[in-house]
Amino acid sequence: MERYANLFISFSLLFFFLNYSLFVCKSMASSLQLNHDQLNIMANLSNSLSPNSYNNWNTSDPNPCLWDRVICSAGPSTVVTGLSLSNLSIPTAANVGDFFSILCRLDTLQNLDFSQNYIAMIPDSFFSNCTGLSGLKSLDLSSNELTGPVRNFSSFASLETLDLSYNSLQGTVETQLSSSSKLKSLNLGSNLLMGTIPTFVTDGRRVAAFEELVLSNNQFTGTIPSEIFEHENLTVLDLSTNSLSGTIPEKIGMLSNLNALDLSSNQLTGRVPATLSNITALFQFAATRNNLTGNIPSITKFLSSLDLSYNNLGGEIPSDLLASPNLEYVDLSSNRLGGAIPTNLSIGLQWLLLSENLLSGIIPTSIGKLSQLAYLELDNNNLYSEIPSQLGNCSNLEFLDLSSNALYSELPKEIGNLQKLEVLALQTNNLSGEIPVEMNELQSLHRLNLSSNSFTGEILPTISNLRQLFYIHLQHNKFYGSVPDSINVLVYLNELYLGGNYFNGSIPSSLGGLQYLEILDLSYNNFSGNVPDSLSNILSLTELVLSYNNLSGVFPPFSSSVNVVTVGNKNLIILNGSAESNSPGNDVFVTTDSSKRKIQVALVVVSSFVAGFSVSFLMSSLT
Ligand SMILES: *[C@@H]1O[C@H](CO)[C@@H](O)[C@H](O)[C@H]1NC(C)=O
Ligand SMILES: *[C@@H]1O[C@H](CO)[C@@H](O)[C@H](O)[C@H]1NC(C)=O
Repeated sequence: MERYANLFISFSLLFFFLNYSLFVCKSMASSLQLNHDQLNIMANLSNSLSPNSYNNWNTSDPNPCLWDRVICSAGPSTVVTGLSLSNLSIPTAANVGDFFSILCRLDTLQNLDFSQNYIAMIPDSFFSNCTGLSGLKSLDLSSNELTGPVRNFSSFASLETLDLSYNSLQGTVETQLSSSSKLKSLNLGSNLLMGTIPTFVTDGRRVAAFEELVLSNNQFTGTIPSEIFEHENLTVLDLSTNSLSGTIPEKIGMLSNLNALDLSSNQLTGRVPATLSNITALFQFAATRNNLTGNIPSITKFLSSLDLSYNNLGGEIPSDLLASPNLEYVDLSSNRLGGAIPTNLSIGLQWLLLSENLLSGIIPTSIGKLSQLAYLELDNNNLYSEIPSQLGNCSNLEFLDLSSNALYSELPKEIGNLQKLEVLALQTNNLSGEIPVEMNELQSLHRLNLSSNSFTGEILPTISNLRQLFYIHLQHNKFYGSVPDSINVLVYLNELYLGGNYFNGSIPSSLGGLQYLEILDLSYNNFSGNVPDSLSNILSLTELVLSYNNLSGVFPPFSSSVNVVTVGNKNLIILNGSAESNSPGNDVFVTTDSSKRKIQVALVVVSSFVAGFSVSFLMSSLT
């Protein structure tokens, strides 16, 4: 997501300027008049798309320069230079054949945006024999329903920008674009193209000098051809999500103007070339989801974004890799990186994702200097460390996952400073001590997972401050005391897992007010007293796990959509109408003899019902 943020910003700017120039055009155009020829062509174009006025053109206005989405020049002679017909739901059925052949007469056209419509067919003659559009500089047909091969583009000798992405184009790309020698930007992404990566170099000569080449999300195979590095003006090269194999050539370092390089989701092997560090312009490099091996070279000197996650990279993280001052986004998750986390960290880091590696040692206290840090994921490593109190200085932190390590400290009270924290995942460590009261200041907290640690103490009534809480996972710790009534203030609560602790007291009937609660697990505690009737008011409830407590009294009826587990409560009386999905055979019913018989009959009925229910539940969860 972040990877594309910069790209997105440049698109937004482009969009802004486009709108701005449209505005300027419109305000000046009132005084401008098209010549007779152009008026005639525009009238025909408009007719070709009727009777449905997809383009929203107000043809009763005699000046087409004032029509929506028509861009005119403001020079000495007024002409139409652009048509911006994006996102109008124009289907193939709307005479597009006529439209494109009339368009060929509009020989002043420089920019045509026909993206985001439903066009499946454009006549071949438009691409190969539309001499009138030899001045067209930019053609955008992206996000339509075009099929078949990439056509021969001999009509458009001046074309600089061509976007055919998000269609269903098939076949190989060979000489179809060889007449477009001015092409600088080509986007063929998200089609069904196959064969080897087109290089646009024949007999050692470049067909065009590309600046942007996007071939992502197709079915290209073979290796990354070294001819591609002849396009030394390339600023964007995106070959991601294909089936490319072989290594990343060292020669890639020759692309000295490269800003963004994406090789993700291929089957590339070998090492990350150290020559990437020569490219002073490179700010974004991604090669996630390949089979890259070896050590990571120090390539971040100029980078702001590095994604090498889901590879087999090994060795230690170079001590300067995370230190480059431009660095904002680093994802090295799911590799085989060992050693310690480098202590030299760039203060600009916003995302630091090192999950699922073999990292050992401590969480460096220098992390406290990262005032921009929003995402920190160090989970599933072998970190043997305290949680540094300095983490409380990362006041922009939104997501903190330190789970599945060997962390052993208490939770520092400074955690309470993280006012933007939405996710706190500390499960499966050896953390201990009481939860600091300051925790109840985490106003944005959405997900709290402290499960499988050795935390102790009580749940404080002030937990009700954490209004955004959606998941509370406190299972398998040493918490005790009663569950505060005020928990019902957490209106969004969806899952409450308190199993495997020493909680006691009665189940607060206020829990029945939690209208979004789906899972309530209070198993393996010392809860006593009745199961409050109010719980059956929770319409969203799907799982109620009360097993192995000291609950007593008559178990209230629950809808059959609730999976109920009550085993291991000696004094709990189950009447029919309450679904019990665990075999209740172990339960001992302490009742009078006559009611006992009634209950046992009911139990048989319930058991057979439940057996059927469990099977169908199992089936539905398998499908
Ligand atoms: C269409 O153009 C005519 C003539 O300029 C104008 O009177 C009318 O208000 C326009 N209609 C719309 C819906 O803009
Ligand atoms: C919390 O941690 C447990 C492991 O102890 C895991 O099974 C569960 O999916 C986690 N829940 C959330 C919401 O992260």
